[in-house]
Amino acid sequence: MFVAEDLKTDKGRILGVIVFDLEQPYIHSVGVVRDRRREGIGSSLKRASLAEMVALVGTVTAVSSVHKKNIPMIKLNEGLGVKSTKDPEDGDYLLSAILVEPTPDTVTTSSTPLIRALLRRFRTREQVN
Ligand SMILES: CC(C)(COP(=O)(O)OP(=O)(O)OC[C@H]1O[C@@H](n2cnc3c(N)ncnc32)[C@H](O)[C@@H]1OP(=O)(O)O)[C@@H](O)C(=O)NCCC(=O)NCCS
Repeated sequence: MFVAEDLKTDKGRILGVIVFDLEQPYIHSVGVVRDRRREGIGSSLKRASLAEMVALVGTVTAVSSVHKKNIPMIKLNEGLGVKSTKDPEDGDYLLSAILVEPTPDTVTTSSTPLIRALLRRFRTREQVN
């Protein structure tokens, strides 16, 4: 899990969270507080989780599920190049999958530069359960 924290205007406030499973690998959920949406936090969190997956697991196809009416998330996914197909088990949902590989050309080469980029705007920290 990654969280994004505000370090400037509202110090320490949690602005967003993403929960992912490295074993599947599967992104369970991502959420950003209403008043701070459309600032790139959700996509940064998703990029960071993909980066973490590829850094720890290597080449992976990361899967997530999104309701067919969830336009913000569908658009966010599209912006990251994530392909979506109808969930064969539930027609109200789309399954999204993105192949992430440890190559220098992908945005998900390694978590380090991405996390560093995130840290410039939002402090992130990994939560250990
Ligand atoms: C989906 C969600 C996480 C997006 O977070 P965010 O921080 O606002 O997303 P970003 O700022 O990174 O947006 C990235 C891109 O996604 C798309 N997008 C995001 N919100 C959008 C909206 N309301 N309408 C259309 N496109 C949207 C845009 O293409 C956007 O890029 P742009 O701002 O340059 O146009 C946020 O809306 C949210 O928390 N929703 C409620 C929880 C939820 O539905 N989570 C997903 C299912 S688990």
